[in-house]
Amino acid sequence: MNILLTGGAGYIGSLACVRLIEAGERPVIYDNLSNSSAAVVDRIAALTGVRPELVEGDIRDRARLDELLKRSPFDAAIHFAGSKAVGESTRDPLLYYDNNVHGSRVLLSALHDAGVRSIVFSSSATVYGDPDTVPLDEQAPTRPANTYGRTKLVIENMLRDLAVAAPDWSVTLLRYFNPVGAHPSGQLGEDPQGPPNNLVPYIAQVAVGRRPHLTVFGDDYATPDGTGVRDYIHVMDLVDGHIAALRRRHGQPGVRTYNLGTGRGHSVMEVLQAFERAAGRSIAHVVAPRRPGDVARYWADPALAARDLDWRAVRSLDDMCRDAWRWQKDNPDGYAAAPDRIRTA
Ligand SMILES: NC(=O)c1ccc[n+]([C@@H]2O[C@H](COP(=O)([O-])OP(=O)(O)OC[C@H]3O[C@@H](n4cnc5c(N)ncnc54)[C@H](O)[C@@H]3O)[C@@H](O)[C@H]2O)c1
Repeated sequence: MNILLTGGAGYIGSLACVRLIEAGERPVIYDNLSNSSAAVVDRIAALTGVRPELVEGDIRDRARLDELLKRSPFDAAIHFAGSKAVGESTRDPLLYYDNNVHGSRVLLSALHDAGVRSIVFSSSATVYGDPDTVPLDEQAPTRPANTYGRTKLVIENMLRDLAVAAPDWSVTLLRYFNPVGAHPSGQLGEDPQGPPNNLVPYIAQVAVGRRPHLTVFGDDYATPDGTGVRDYIHVMDLVDGHIAALRRRHGQPGVRTYNLGTGRGHSVMEVLQAFERAAGRSIAHVVAPRRPGDVARYWADPALAARDLDWRAVRSLDDMCRDAWRWQKDNPDGYAAAPDRIRTA
């Protein structure tokens, strides 16, 4: 299949691109490089022997999308492009409504007019907000607690409405839990700009000496060791979920929503200890008060994805930390050495 990967130069999209090439598909990356580097294409080429086409463009740019869709017929799109920092979304909500919601709207119109009727969308467990009970299945109430999560829910609903109006659309909404880790080669991984917003990249930067210590926000939650519990999923398991979704869902009309998680939670301290094992060194941390808006614990019920997509996460927390550490240690400054790095954050 010819597959359009919006945001395909990013953390998850670049790894999905590797897996798609390995699976015999033909991905084309469409990315404005606002949070990524064109250097990933060299790394993908080195890993797979195939250099995917990278089209530099913005999902809000209808003319650019039309140009691409006219010259390349696509069977499906995987829509990763968007802004993802919760804190930034609270400070600059209009940016998030513009890039995520408006951008998705422009993309969907362009796909629709070009006759593309199959999409896999990167949604997030953030749409659930603070859960009443865990594990979370796909029927749990959606009441996102921040702007980022609300934009994801708006896009989900836009896709649902589109599929009602145009029943030949095949829409798969994948709600990611907490993706961590990197390609096992250490060649592709998460490269946050500025201080990382997520736990594992932060720990990794402390371990490699870029930051003095990790701050643990809250050790008085109602969890076994008092620190927050999340469902961390190896990013390679996550991208395999996309391959499974494409295989099972392509050509099947209607909307399906799936949690992509492991079904088990790990606390901040458990992750820290696993990373210390992986890196073979101790990692400094300090405890600070809870952050407003953080929830105590959540993890997925991934049974629906197992049943419908025949997909399960198989990698352990130790695997996630080992691969995250290999990536960090081999690329202490991420892709920064690449001359074409574009930083807009
Ligand atoms: N990483 C996570 O923890 C996580 C969790 C849940 C959901 N998601 C979602 O998964 C998707 C991919 O996340 P990621 O971690 O790979 O993020 P990322 O920032 O590494 O990748 C996103 C990519 O989209 C590109 N992009 C952003 N705005 C664009 C635009 N207007 N036009 C074209 N390209 C644009 C960026 O340059 C980047 O390459 C995002 O939609 C994110 O919200 C991520």
